[in-house]
Amino acid sequence: MKPRKVTKAVFPVAGLGTRFLPATKSIPKEIMTLVDRPLIQYAIDEARAAGIKEFIFVTSRGKSALEDYFDHAPELESALRKSGKDDLLETLKDTNMDSGAIAYVRQNRPMGLGHAVWCARRLIGNEPFAVLLPDDVIAAEKACLQQMIEAYEHTGGCMVAAMEVPPEKASSYGVLDIAEDMGSIVRLKGMVEKPKPKDAPSNLAVIGRYILTPAVLSNLNRMKQGAGGEIQLTDAIADETGSSPGVFGFRFRGQRYDCGSKIGFLQATVAFGLARPDLNEEFGAYLHEMMAMQKAAQ
Ligand code: G1P
Repeated sequence: MKPRKVTKAVFPVAGLGTRFLPATKSIPKEIMTLVDRPLIQYAIDEARAAGIKEFIFVTSRGKSALEDYFDHAPELESALRKSGKDDLLETLKDTNMDSGAIAYVRQNRPMGLGHAVWCARRLIGNEPFAVLLPDDVIAAEKACLQQMIEAYEHTGGCMVAAMEVPPEKASSYGVLDIAEDMGSIVRLKGMVEKPKPKDAPSNLAVIGRYILTPAVLSNLNRMKQGAGGEIQLTDAIADETGSSPGVFGFRFRGQRYDCGSKIGFLQATVAFGLARPDLNEEFGAYLHEMMAMQKAAQ
């Protein structure tokens, strides 16, 4: 039997974004832009491409810019219309959400990613759902979440996006404990959140895309504290590895950028800048020049 269709997605956006202070003192980190689109737009576009119809944001204080971003902007729109700037009006289209397609719940204390997802439980109800962490930006020919949904239609159960990382980086991720490696899909027997390098069960790390069953929400009800004293999503998913149909890792095809770190954000800026036909030539030439200057100075 085919598993139930995934039409809801949760976007945990309550984090303080301290790694980007002072910028994040007054803007949510999800509004920081890669070229000319905020991080959150990349996650929303990916979810839409995967057939998601309902978007649930878990927010916190200071995140109202996100709500405004996805609303209509009547004054701006009429000013653009009057001045005949149809191309710019077009770019605004992706930012508008139909009334009722987007919902916001607040996480009023930072108690971890698992707790953030749990805050959305009433809006999710009793059906499978996706979770997208906007910090992880994934450039792919076919949207990463779409790839996962296609795989999930065969496996059912829970699924996490997975990527090989160097052993010394494992402690920054949830790490997969593999029961059976079937190529792009791996069956898991456990997962460990932020292990010490020597305790990492593999070099396959969780990347911020998940397809989850409502059982994970029941596991989160227990409010069990995990790594860093937080309620970890990884632990609540790992609790499902013993049940049928189980938990799977999915090696997606695409390039992931860790936009929660400065270096990842800069790398993404370069990659997305170069990928833009209107910027490629001038930006590419500039990068060449910069590299030559840096080499000459060494
Ligand atoms: C979160 C998850 C972790 C996952 C990572 C991917 O960690 O807890 O399991 O590997 O996202 O980006 P965070 O980066 O929020 O510390």
